[in-house]
Amino acid sequence: MISCTLKTFPGMPAVHCAVLAAFVPLLGSSLALSAQTPTPPMTAPGTRTTYQPVFRFDGYTTTYAFGVNERGELQQIYWGGRIAPKDPLPAPKSNPEHASFDNSYNNTPQEYAGWGAGLFQEPALKVTFADGNRDLVLHYLSSTKPDEQSGIQDIVLKDIQRDVRVILHYWMDPDTGILARWATIENHEPKPIVIEQAAAAAWSLPPAHYTLDYLSGRWAGEWTLNREPIQAGERVLESRRGSTGHQMNPWFAISRNETADPAGEEHGDTWFGALAWSGSWRITVEQDQLDNVRVTGGFNPFDFGYTLKPNEKLETPVFYGGFTQDGKGGASRLLNHFTLARILPTAPNPKPRPVIYNSWEATEFAVTEAGQEALAEKAAALGIDRFVMDDGWFGQRKDDHAGLGDWYVNKDKFPSGLKPLIDKVHSLKMDFGLWVEPEMVNPDSDLYRKHPDWVLNFPGRPRTEQRNQLVLNLARKDVRDYVYGFLDKLLSENQIAFLKWDYNRNWSEPGWDQVPVDEQKRVYVQFTRNLYSILGELRAKHPGVEIESCSGGGGRVDLGILHYTDEVWPSDNTDPLDRLTQQDGFTRAYPNQVMMSWVTDSPHWLNARATSLNYRMLVSMEGALGIGGNLNKWSAQDMATAQRLIREYHLVQKTIAQGSLYRLISPTNGSEFAATEMVAPDRSQAVFFAYVHSTQEGRGFPRLQLLGLDPDTQYAFSSIDGSAAPGTPAQASGAWWMNHGVDVNLRGDFQAAMFRLDKR
Ligand code: DGJ
Repeated sequence: MISCTLKTFPGMPAVHCAVLAAFVPLLGSSLALSAQTPTPPMTAPGTRTTYQPVFRFDGYTTTYAFGVNERGELQQIYWGGRIAPKDPLPAPKSNPEHASFDNSYNNTPQEYAGWGAGLFQEPALKVTFADGNRDLVLHYLSSTKPDEQSGIQDIVLKDIQRDVRVILHYWMDPDTGILARWATIENHEPKPIVIEQAAAAAWSLPPAHYTLDYLSGRWAGEWTLNREPIQAGERVLESRRGSTGHQMNPWFAISRNETADPAGEEHGDTWFGALAWSGSWRITVEQDQLDNVRVTGGFNPFDFGYTLKPNEKLETPVFYGGFTQDGKGGASRLLNHFTLARILPTAPNPKPRPVIYNSWEATEFAVTEAGQEALAEKAAALGIDRFVMDDGWFGQRKDDHAGLGDWYVNKDKFPSGLKPLIDKVHSLKMDFGLWVEPEMVNPDSDLYRKHPDWVLNFPGRPRTEQRNQLVLNLARKDVRDYVYGFLDKLLSENQIAFLKWDYNRNWSEPGWDQVPVDEQKRVYVQFTRNLYSILGELRAKHPGVEIESCSGGGGRVDLGILHYTDEVWPSDNTDPLDRLTQQDGFTRAYPNQVMMSWVTDSPHWLNARATSLNYRMLVSMEGALGIGGNLNKWSAQDMATAQRLIREYHLVQKTIAQGSLYRLISPTNGSEFAATEMVAPDRSQAVFFAYVHSTQEGRGFPRLQLLGLDPDTQYAFSSIDGSAAPGTPAQASGAWWMNHGVDVNLRGDFQAAMFRLDKR
């Protein structure tokens, strides 16, 4: 057993871990256990090594283990509930050939399989060598002890003949049992190789019946939770768009449903994972002919082709995977806790988000100094913390036809620059945020007239515009430096506390003709890496500045961008009923803390649905609250309602943002009702929301039996908005609130209520 103190992963605070790296005896031989794994002799397929190292990670309630099988392949042997330190683990042993059509290489749950030796499943790695050979069979070469600082353990694989190596990196979070896995591929051959497919990791599950959850969507319709049985073949979750995409999100949850007690919201075996990458990505969920399930994820192999010259390497994104016996709700709580504690740039103590006002739905592009100042005064009266000016303040931006790329202040709209507005906002005791869309350019801009070669394009071919804009090729160093430069200048010259970083189209014609042909497809990696490096450098130079990731709504939300940004904009759809289901989907993968949620005007522009301000406020208060309506049109009563609820929100915001989330009633599948509960980490407070969409046949709201409280603690009950049934006690034990539960008075169309419980 190796005990170590983890400094951080990557770059995060110290935690403690215990990682076992041992040898298990092979074929009955009893060889000494050792923490140091010697390099076994390289073997040809089908021969046996003498020693079979086994690697085991234990964290929170999870154990993950793999080892080297008799052929020398790295093979997963366990992923599930935590087992005792001395419990036996099966020796890694390849599965036999099932039939002449099902060879052992396919049947064996490999940790990271090269495409070779007759592999029909998704390979983790597929390459073409300079001489045309495409056979790659990776065997175990060596391993390191967990690094004393980072706790990361490396396992080295190598092709059975050629010097292509893969370093598999592993780190398990002791607080959640979530395992971080990623790979570095190294070419030590004398000639280049082309990587056609590179996964961060492959995860194996034993043969069973499973249900897959994944998130799909479209613009203004993100975060749809899909639930389907895993069946023979492959379900592909992906983006080929150059960025994360609205259409699929790089997250999955798989629950076992074979037993008499299938996995549900609050119980049952659930495996889950999220890929930390904001470029084109792919996750495949594959059930083979022998019912083995394998999840493989990393760079999207579509149009991929990364040439590695001799002694070059390519590092994949990180793929996080976890396990819980507490069902789908338990899975999201673990992942959300992990994101707060390990992923966010301010982890492990992210501040609850300021309540913002955003001008977009009020003014669209028609921003002016006087108009923004008038809105700022009204926002301040509500108790808003941050005033954000959206699109329209720069270049010749009157609508979406011009201006992107020209990041100077429009003098017609702001004759003396941004300072007077920023000063005004500060005098109103708010800080100031600004919208930018740094990676884009309108052809009608000075930047494009000067640098038409800076956009993604294939020379001589059409350049397809979307929203009248083209994508700057951020993979280019000059473009990267330009983007960093103007943002740095903007932040240095103005007192800006927050950037809303937008990205309003996907790629087309992703050409990069300034580099040799064999390097052009690196754009799929380099673009995203440069984006991350700009964000990282800006944060380092301007540590007070916070950033939101927006992409026409929720088109760029993933654990990669969340390592550099404080919050995300989940959707341009702010209709409260739609938001309820979106929030249900979103929080499966990401915490309330980062889920910006504006209250906008009624009837809603998208669905023409009319709803009360209380209902809209209570929907948005499930996440990071913002106001995005046209305050010039709000009545005095609206202003008073919003002011009161913002005040109440601040009192319980930390519990909402960072507490454990329980979906008491999911709004999905046509449910008339919805209810969520958030419990503070120390269980001293709980906040719960109830929503009815449309009461029918006089049916009352289902009784809410709360979850996650301390049964022995006395909690005082109070209403933030709405009422509970007569007879609800002013105080009772956690056991009472969880076992008896609360009857909520909620009838009508689009009604909501919000309550709190506080430890006495
Ligand atoms: C798309 C964003 O999602 C909106 O909130 C707004 O910022 C517009 N872009 C501005 O162009």
